[in-house]
Amino acid sequence: MSRPVVAARDDLIEWRREFPTVESTLHFISHSLGAMPRGVEEALRQYTHVWKARGIRAWEERWLALPVELGNLLATLIGAEPGSVSMIENVTLAQAVALSAVDFAPPRNRLVCTEEDFPSVLYLYQGLARRGVEVVRVRARDGHHIEASDVASAIDEHTAVVAVSMVSFRISEILDMSPIVQRARAVGAMTLVDAYQAVGTVPVDVGTLGVDLLTGGSVKWLCGGPGAGYLYVSPRLAGSLEPALTGWMAHERPFDFDSGPMRWHGGARRFWTGTPGIPSFSAARPGYEIVARIGVQAIRDKSLRQTQRMLEWADEYAFAVVSPREPARRGGTVVVDVPNAEKVCQALLATDVLLDYRPGVGLRLAPHFYTRNDEVDLVMKRVREEVERAAH
Ligand SMILES: Cc1ncc(COP(=O)(O)O)c(C=O)c1O
Repeated sequence: MSRPVVAARDDLIEWRREFPTVESTLHFISHSLGAMPRGVEEALRQYTHVWKARGIRAWEERWLALPVELGNLLATLIGAEPGSVSMIENVTLAQAVALSAVDFAPPRNRLVCTEEDFPSVLYLYQGLARRGVEVVRVRARDGHHIEASDVASAIDEHTAVVAVSMVSFRISEILDMSPIVQRARAVGAMTLVDAYQAVGTVPVDVGTLGVDLLTGGSVKWLCGGPGAGYLYVSPRLAGSLEPALTGWMAHERPFDFDSGPMRWHGGARRFWTGTPGIPSFSAARPGYEIVARIGVQAIRDKSLRQTQRMLEWADEYAFAVVSPREPARRGGTVVVDVPNAEKVCQALLATDVLLDYRPGVGLRLAPHFYTRNDEVDLVMKRVREEVERAAH
C-alpha cells in the first residue's frame, strides 16, 4: 500500500541532529524516556568543571541560581509567571510537597482522583488515606476512559483537592479539564494536575486551564533525563501554602541557619526541601531549551500528523487501537493491543526498536519532533512483522 507523505515539509526535522540516539534506534519511546540531547554531555562536563574549579563557591556563583532559572524556563512552556515553578526531584515528591500544605481537616477532608492516574501518585494518596484523608477514586468507563463529567460529579463541599492526570499514561487520553476546574472552583476545592504526559507534546497553559497546582517531570517529552521534576503553584495561592514537607532551602535565608520558626522564601524556593539535585538539573536544561525554542504547538501539530498516520497503519494491519482517535482527546502516544504484546515488545527492543508494553493495554509507541515520517511507516511495519512472527 502506498500512502501520501505525512507532510510535504517537516520544519522540525532539523532538530534531529541534536539527538544522536535517534540515529541508532527507531525511537518511539518519548512518553517514557525522551532521547538525550547532544548538549547534555557538555552540560554535565560544565557541572563537574565548576565543582572541580570553584569548589564551595559553586553554590553562590552557579548552583543556587540553576533551579530558579530552570523553573522560569519551564514557566514559559506552561504559560506561567516567572517565580511560580519550583524544581523538585520528581512528580511524586512535588505532589507530596504540595499536598503537605493542605490540612484536610473535616468536613473538607476529601481528595478526588481517578483510577487512571499514575500509580506512584495513587500510592501517595493511599498514604494520605492512612492519615485520615478520604480518597475518592473516579472509575474509568469502557476500559480506561475517564469522563470529565464523572470527575466533576465526584467533587463537592467536602473536597479539599482534585488531583488528576491531564493526559493518562496508559492510553494517552487528554482529560477535558474545564468542567473539573469549574466545579472545583465553585465548591472551593484546589486543583492539582499531573501534566507529565502533556508538557512538551500537548500545549498546556495554566492561565487558561485555571489550575492551582501542576506537576510534571523531565524524563519524557522534555528530553531532560531523570531527577528533575517540578511544581507550579498559582501565585494567587503560593503565599498561603505552608508545606509540612519542607526544608532549609525553603527558608528566606537558609545560610543564617536559623533554628526557627520557619520564615518562608518569597519565590519558587518556598517549595524546595533540602539540597537541590544540581547534576540532574544541569542535565535537564538542554532539552527544555530545545522544546522552548521549537514551541509546544509546533510539536503538537507534527505529533497529530504522525500519530494520525500511525492510526491509519494500525487499521490497515488490524491492530486494536486502545488510545483515543479524536485529535482533541489524543495525547502524543498511540497504544495498540496486539496479540503477544509483551513478547513482541521484547523482540523489538532487542533489535533497537524502542517502544514499551503496559499490561492490559499493549504497546505504546510515540513519535516526537525528531521523528522522520518514514520512521513512522517503518515502526508500524516492524510491529506487524513481529506480531506475525510471535504467532508462529
Ligand atoms: C502521568 C505520570 N505521572 C507521574 C509519573 C512518574 O512520576 P515520577 O517518577 O517523577 O514521580 C509518570 C511516569 O513515569 C507519568 O506518566
